[in-house]
Amino acid sequence: MPPETSTVAAPEVSLVHLIEKKRDGKELTHNEIQAFVDHTVKGTAQDCQLGAMLMAMHLQGLTDQETVSLTKCMMNSGEVLVWPKEWKSLLVDKHSTGGVGDKISLVLAPALAACGLKVPMISGRGLDFTGGTLDKLESIPGYRILLSKDELTQILSKAGCFIAGQSANLVPADMELYKRRDVTATVPNPGLITGSILSKKAAEGVTSLIMDIKVGKAAFKKTVEEAEILATKIVNTSKILGLNTRVALTRMDSVLGYYVGNSLEVIESVQSMKGEGPEDIDTLVEDLGGNLLQMCGVVKTVEEGKQKMKKSLHDGSALKHFQTMMTMQGVDPSVAAKVCDDPWSALPTVPKSQVTSLMSEKSGVVASLDGLTIGKCCRDLGAGRMTFSQKINPSVGVRLLVKEGDKVESGKPWIEVHHSQSIIPESVRERLKGAIMIDENMKAVPKKPIVIKVM
Ligand code: URA
Repeated sequence: MPPETSTVAAPEVSLVHLIEKKRDGKELTHNEIQAFVDHTVKGTAQDCQLGAMLMAMHLQGLTDQETVSLTKCMMNSGEVLVWPKEWKSLLVDKHSTGGVGDKISLVLAPALAACGLKVPMISGRGLDFTGGTLDKLESIPGYRILLSKDELTQILSKAGCFIAGQSANLVPADMELYKRRDVTATVPNPGLITGSILSKKAAEGVTSLIMDIKVGKAAFKKTVEEAEILATKIVNTSKILGLNTRVALTRMDSVLGYYVGNSLEVIESVQSMKGEGPEDIDTLVEDLGGNLLQMCGVVKTVEEGKQKMKKSLHDGSALKHFQTMMTMQGVDPSVAAKVCDDPWSALPTVPKSQVTSLMSEKSGVVASLDGLTIGKCCRDLGAGRMTFSQKINPSVGVRLLVKEGDKVESGKPWIEVHHSQSIIPESVRERLKGAIMIDENMKAVPKKPIVIKVM
């Protein structure tokens, strides 16, 4: 990414003038955006000014050029990770907009590493109904998310991947702006989202990126049209930045896989890396990974890439990389081995007496499973949080016993609820009862493909 030639000493530029310009729908120059970002990071702006500028950006929108400038200025607001030159074409990452049961990163990163790529994955925590990759990994006793640059390099060298948290030094502008966006109703703007995501990915020093934009009832983007607006912005901005990016729009109406909850999702991820994972998880890992392998030139076609990914899930090589990554990120080697061998005994789970099965009230075919309600119930059981300061419980969550299109029988269990109290909370039981729709007349429902399109 070429550096900008001229920048303005931020405090000399009047923020009031910049807010006024954006408020009136005029395009901000690179230097003006640099000044805004500098004010943000240096603490020379009043909170109300940051809120006003974010609202002006949200309402007026950001042009592609403004989005590129914002991304570059945010990226350069802190440290930019630099890796050995010989890795350049192999450095990749994936970002997901978040869904229910979305444990793809836990499987994808080690599988890509097993296929020879380098994956410096800086991940985040969950909020509301979506789970966070870091929360899931922290259910593994000893797993450290904050690592020094030397440690990160060593892990990338040996394990081929790390999944770590964002240090205070990486894209500090995003931390400052995101906090304000969260409380000023300015999160959903496509330009601001693009700047926020791409600045972090560019600061990781990756060459290729796959974005997984979730679409559906259990995702932030409810329609393909809405998702396409964000996808187009990301693709256009990436092109100008010189970041090789593809966007996959993927279905998120229900739940990915069968398990929701932190430990439970690590368990299901290990099953996937043993070649025993559910079809939707395997398909998504193979598809996203197949694209990345082809984008890096490791394989000629996406199909060839998918086959390579599939092999890594079945021959134990992805699991081996996962084990090495865990050990290098602080997990005792004997615990890491146990997580791979028998995750149920290695991870925190609730006692059997706190697992309650809910029974189907009729026989038929599962016409729909409401992922949003299931995600919110898991959050309320303690698997998620509403604010970043809230503590989560790694042991709780749910295990689905059926998916959409499956047959169910009256009186047979369709979901297991893993709860922290001695009995299942009544409100959770009631809401879950309403989350399954059974059609008594339906013979079968064809499964919809998980990947809607790749852009
Ligand atoms: N995820 C991010 O990292 N930033 C956004 O703005 C939205 C989602």
